[in-house]
Amino acid sequence: MDRQQSTSGRPRPRRQQRRSTLLLFIAVVTVVTLFTTHSDQGTFFVHARRQQQQRQQHQFTVQDSSSFRAPSYDSDSDNGASLQDRRRLELECQQILAIPPLSSSTPAPPEPFLEPTFSTLAGPPENSTWRLWYRKWTDLSAKETSTKIENAGFLLGNGQSQVLVGGGIHVERIRVSEESSWAGGPGVDRVANAPPGDGASTSDDEVEEEQYRGGNVPVEEAPQRQEALEKLRLMVKEKGQVRPREKIVGSLKGDERGFGSQLAFGELLVEEVKKFETVREYRRELDLETGVATVTFSVGDLQYKREHFCSFPDAVCVMRLQASEPKSINVRVSLSSAHENTGTAEYTNVHNRLGMRARLASNNMTTEAMVAVTTEGATGVSLANNRQVVALGFDAVTLYYTMGTGWTLQGSYPNFEDKDPHDRLTSVMDKAVGGLYGDQYLKHVQDHQTLFQGFRLDLGQIENKLPTDELLKASKEGNVGEEEAYLDALMVQYARYLLIASSRPGSLPLSGRSMWSQDQNTGLDDPSIGYKMDIDLQMNYWLAESTGLGETVTPLIDYMEKLLVPRGQDTASLYYGARGWLTHPYSNIWAHTGPTAQDQTFYLPTAAAWLCQHAWDRYLYSQDYYFLRDHAYKLMKGAAQFWVDTLVRLRDEEEGPLVVSPSFAPGHGGVTAGTAMDQQLVWQLLNNTLEAIAVVGERDRVFAQNLTTALEVVAPGLRVGSWGQLQEWSLDMDDPNERHPHLGYLWAVYPGNQVFFRNSSSSSSDEDEGEDEGGKEPTREELLEAARESLIHRGMGDRPGGNFGWAKSWRAAVWARLGDGRLAYRAVETFKRDHIFEHPNLLDFKDGLSGLLGVSAAMVEMVIQSRAPGFVDILTVADLPDQWLRKEGSVEGFRTRDGHVVSSRWEVGGTVRQVEVYASLKAGSLRVKIGSLGGEDRTPSAKVRVSQKESTKVVAYSREGDVVVLEAVAKGQTYVIDIDD
Ligand SMILES: *[C@@H]1O[C@H](CO)[C@@H](O)[C@H](O)[C@H]1NC(C)=O
Ligand SMILES: *[C@@H]1O[C@H](CO)[C@@H](O)[C@H](O)[C@H]1NC(C)=O
Ligand SMILES: *[C@@H]1O[C@H](CO)[C@@H](O)[C@H](O)[C@H]1NC(C)=O
Repeated sequence: MDRQQSTSGRPRPRRQQRRSTLLLFIAVVTVVTLFTTHSDQGTFFVHARRQQQQRQQHQFTVQDSSSFRAPSYDSDSDNGASLQDRRRLELECQQILAIPPLSSSTPAPPEPFLEPTFSTLAGPPENSTWRLWYRKWTDLSAKETSTKIENAGFLLGNGQSQVLVGGGIHVERIRVSEESSWAGGPGVDRVANAPPGDGASTSDDEVEEEQYRGGNVPVEEAPQRQEALEKLRLMVKEKGQVRPREKIVGSLKGDERGFGSQLAFGELLVEEVKKFETVREYRRELDLETGVATVTFSVGDLQYKREHFCSFPDAVCVMRLQASEPKSINVRVSLSSAHENTGTAEYTNVHNRLGMRARLASNNMTTEAMVAVTTEGATGVSLANNRQVVALGFDAVTLYYTMGTGWTLQGSYPNFEDKDPHDRLTSVMDKAVGGLYGDQYLKHVQDHQTLFQGFRLDLGQIENKLPTDELLKASKEGNVGEEEAYLDALMVQYARYLLIASSRPGSLPLSGRSMWSQDQNTGLDDPSIGYKMDIDLQMNYWLAESTGLGETVTPLIDYMEKLLVPRGQDTASLYYGARGWLTHPYSNIWAHTGPTAQDQTFYLPTAAAWLCQHAWDRYLYSQDYYFLRDHAYKLMKGAAQFWVDTLVRLRDEEEGPLVVSPSFAPGHGGVTAGTAMDQQLVWQLLNNTLEAIAVVGERDRVFAQNLTTALEVVAPGLRVGSWGQLQEWSLDMDDPNERHPHLGYLWAVYPGNQVFFRNSSSSSSDEDEGEDEGGKEPTREELLEAARESLIHRGMGDRPGGNFGWAKSWRAAVWARLGDGRLAYRAVETFKRDHIFEHPNLLDFKDGLSGLLGVSAAMVEMVIQSRAPGFVDILTVADLPDQWLRKEGSVEGFRTRDGHVVSSRWEVGGTVRQVEVYASLKAGSLRVKIGSLGGEDRTPSAKVRVSQKESTKVVAYSREGDVVVLEAVAKGQTYVIDIDD
């Protein structure tokens, strides 16, 4: 029999696919034994490989779960065993192939694939700490499989690709996605300007070609734009406020055409060929510590196991099916595109490798996916056509799949020409199918753990024996007791897991919603669901640096350098006549930096300043001089340059503070000058850039001098208003009943830190911001009190029409910074109520992932925080939730803004017993503030001892109340602070 025969290599015309089933039969690929892609290798080699594979498999099986027997290969009798058996399987394969596979447009699997009855509960996973796990797939009566996958599926990813694994038995639906699957961009113009299909050439006098400009105006319109802007600035100066509906504001609106939005990709379906009536001990779990999802169940005497992971080092996603007895795997595998309706979907098969290509309707961009089916077991038979592979009677089947588009980050700006991903994907697949599953598994786990294990948080959680959906139910009903602390810490670790799965070097930053949520896959120009840089994008990274995931920030830096800076330089010169770069708050993968087309046109022109905070933080946490010099500083310098050129005097030409104008704050504001958020961001950017200059040096003295001068007179955006509030505008016009979700004016509390470094004494001799804006600069205490007052009035972030996850997360973080554990935890609870409890996989895709990432950052902030280099605070937040302090607890691997690694453990009730500081990157002084030291009713008599680990050296320190001051930690040394009563 032919071992191998191939169908067409490259995509075929669609018409050809519509041939009758009979033709398909003839075109069928007949593939019999294992390693179908290695048919040219000699028998000996195959045999040797087989043994190797077996060894590898065996090792892995033992480590993983002893109940699964390694398949046996040694009986030669199998080979000759029965040609009849094989013939029978072939016929069966052919019958199955004759039925078209399900497609992603099929909402629910039809009759033969209804899920089986579940009986006998599985026990909890062994050695389980950080896992999501479930004893059921989901409510089987529900029809909306699609929504179910969003609510219950496991999210796996390797940065560029993310998949949602359903966990079904008869039909395993894997929703595959690729971060650059986006509508919009310059491709839209290419489609619009393409000559018509009939070959007639476009005549010159047709409509002028549209050109995608990332929201920028054409060069010839720039002068009138800048004039109008100047006029608006004057109006703002005269009136203080201009209504957004004023004609002049309308004339300054941006251009959102071609913005696009993220799109679904398709589905990989793995259908069980033999129908199971009853399934016992079903369990699916996502192990956050390994990044592997597993589905196990028993049918009769057989145990089945399916493993899923997406490997960053191998750039591929993997699913492996195995059973406790050989010859038990019978599946059919198919791919389907979410873009069937464009008429461009093409399906191919080369050597049991299915391919699917489609072009996006909006911009003609190529999307492509491949899945390779590799089989183990001498007795199995597999046949395939262009749409599906059927594999019957194998011991194990491993699927490798990968996705790509014609978009690339490197060198694509500004035209983003479609680069065919075919060769890249092919080589990924060649490497994957040529490797050994056991090696690939271990490589993935090691890669994942290198990041994941860097931070531990023990809130005294007891071992979790409840399935995650039941845990959520119990928490919702308030019956959860001590497991609440487990759920909270699980959320933190889950957030870290999601960042690892979504943001790795070479990928785009984590955008986090429309990609998975099918109702949002409209393809329309929709800036509200792209990269939102007025909170979502930044919040996604709040947790990264402090919990040892600095590497995941790389995509954010790349995104700024490769897309936002080049286009943002044009935006700066065209709209503002300024040097440097800026971006307005909504962007996409096509480098959109222009203002919005909405009423809030002048909302947050300081988005770049905010993003630069992440670049500066990346330096602080890594202490990487070259990163600062070659990347972060350049970004910061350009962003600062823009503001040096653009800031204006609030009042007269030479007096009053420098402000951003026009400027807009969300809520009930008009177009004004110097809103708190813009001022705080600019102040911090100038401050950071000057700090950076001190490290890298700056030859351009004029620039450095301009910066210094600007920082002296720029309004810091910290004013206390008539009802004791922190003002959102430079004018005192805050409404105490405003419940807007956004907290821009509290930026200086979190994620910024400026209020903590304002002068404490009221006898401050600092210059006033300008006498017409009233009085002396407020002190630190006054500002903290004002922030508190404002936030109490601003509510919990759950008002109708403003009920966003990020609104609660931001509140939790600000309360944590303000030292109020009770209100911080109330915000966490509100978040859980609105965004966690109804989602068995804890993912509220409609809201986005930023809420979960942000609330997790806030929970870490409640336990330990480092607001600035030289400072770390441990358990200093008052009224931490009781649930967290019922047992001993600890934190390990927390990073300070100097890159020190801090661990601490505490007793029941929160008395800190030990703090360890590893000064891994930097020498200097460190102020360690410890909650249970010196506070009023804590342990004022505590004895503190500081020693250097593995050394007898006496360590000099001083104590100021609850602060232990280590005057001079040495780089590379570890210091231990022991505290006794
Ligand atoms: C669980 O942990 C114990 C002790 O560390 C170990 O012996 C056992 O093999 C582990 N079980 C699994 C399934 O990993
Ligand atoms: C889409 O791209 C393909 C391949 O480059 C090309 O043949 C086709 O003409 C394009 N379609 C349009 C509408 O631009
Ligand atoms: C920046 O601000 C900090 C306080 O947050 C201050 O200590 C530092 O001196 C400032 N740096 C410059 C260059 O102004």
